[in-house]
Amino acid sequence: MAKEFVVTPWEVTGEVDYNKLIKEFGTQPLNDELIKKIEKKAGKGHHFLRRKIFFSHRELDILLKEYEQGRKFALYTGRGPSGNTHLGHIIPWMFTKYLQDAFDVPLYFQITDDEKFLLKPNLSLEETNKMGYENALDFIALGFDPKKTFIFVDSDYAKTLYKIAIQIAKKVTGSSARAVFGFTNNTNIGMYFWPAMQAAPCILPSILEGRKVRTLIPAAIDQDPYWRIVRDVAPKLGYPKTAAIHCVFLPALTGPKGKMSTSTGEHSTIFTTDTPEEVKKKVNKYAFSGGKDTLKEHRKKGGNPDIDSSYKWLSFFEEDDRKLKKIYNEYKSGKLLSGEIKQILIEKLNTFLKEHQKKREKARSQLDKFILKD
Ligand code: TRP
Repeated sequence: MAKEFVVTPWEVTGEVDYNKLIKEFGTQPLNDELIKKIEKKAGKGHHFLRRKIFFSHRELDILLKEYEQGRKFALYTGRGPSGNTHLGHIIPWMFTKYLQDAFDVPLYFQITDDEKFLLKPNLSLEETNKMGYENALDFIALGFDPKKTFIFVDSDYAKTLYKIAIQIAKKVTGSSARAVFGFTNNTNIGMYFWPAMQAAPCILPSILEGRKVRTLIPAAIDQDPYWRIVRDVAPKLGYPKTAAIHCVFLPALTGPKGKMSTSTGEHSTIFTTDTPEEVKKKVNKYAFSGGKDTLKEHRKKGGNPDIDSSYKWLSFFEEDDRKLKKIYNEYKSGKLLSGEIKQILIEKLNTFLKEHQKKREKARSQLDKFILKD
């Protein structure tokens, strides 16, 4: 039986049962027909689709139908700048890049310095704002086109966002905010209002383009409560309902429970700015192993890739299905040892990070081309 788990925008604990979450949240499983439609448009597949890393959606079918009829949508995703970007954050962003290339649509990226300021007792607005621009570099490093990608940091784009947010806020009661987000009497009133700010970019493209634009949000499933609210409110304000496509969490390196998170596992978190030595140390020290206790036993009985963190991470970062399958089989048969599968992961991550860090530094001088201010 599945164990207890919790998924909210601010907390992910326990071993998440994603099928149960689809039922609880009332979303739709991402079926093969939709996957084929996306892949056809993209001209190539994506391992996140094949491996069900993106596994659920809301009204993606409707959005794609409209697109086929010639109605372009806009993409929207975001980042809460409470610290340095880690590898879990960039999973949905990588997929967003694939979607933008496939559909050739504008993309809006919200950086919520206000949210993290309100939420974290020890962070000042100055700190979250600064961190926001640092995080933006990781996003840009993934190769987005500045002509169709618009990044904004909430407190520096507040004039535009606020006008949309208050329209939304007027239609959301305190009791609905409590039910959806778990707010209590002790929650500060900034947080009560704040979900309207995360909902605002769903409507922003319609305002900027002067026509009704549906938005599609690629994001991890924990952000879905916001989309529930905005999908309820948008039609009341005369805008289309937002569509969403949800991904699973990159699991914590330390094991199957929860997601990788700086707040609960600082030492075992791999950041985009880590050195090759740091990555090596973290994987070797923290990656939960599905291997057997002794070499003899491992060779005889084989390891369990399904619970092995290194294997799980490779399913996110190794695009080649054949290579991944080979690793799976060899680990399971006992041919591949725990130390060896860790080494494969370390090399994979360090190859990726070496390129990423170069592009990240280059992004500093490109930042202005992406940023919206008012
Ligand atoms: N609340 C998100 C976080 O803490 C940031 C965010 C804002 C976001 N808008 C978004 C994430 C849209 C995904 C999609 O990280």
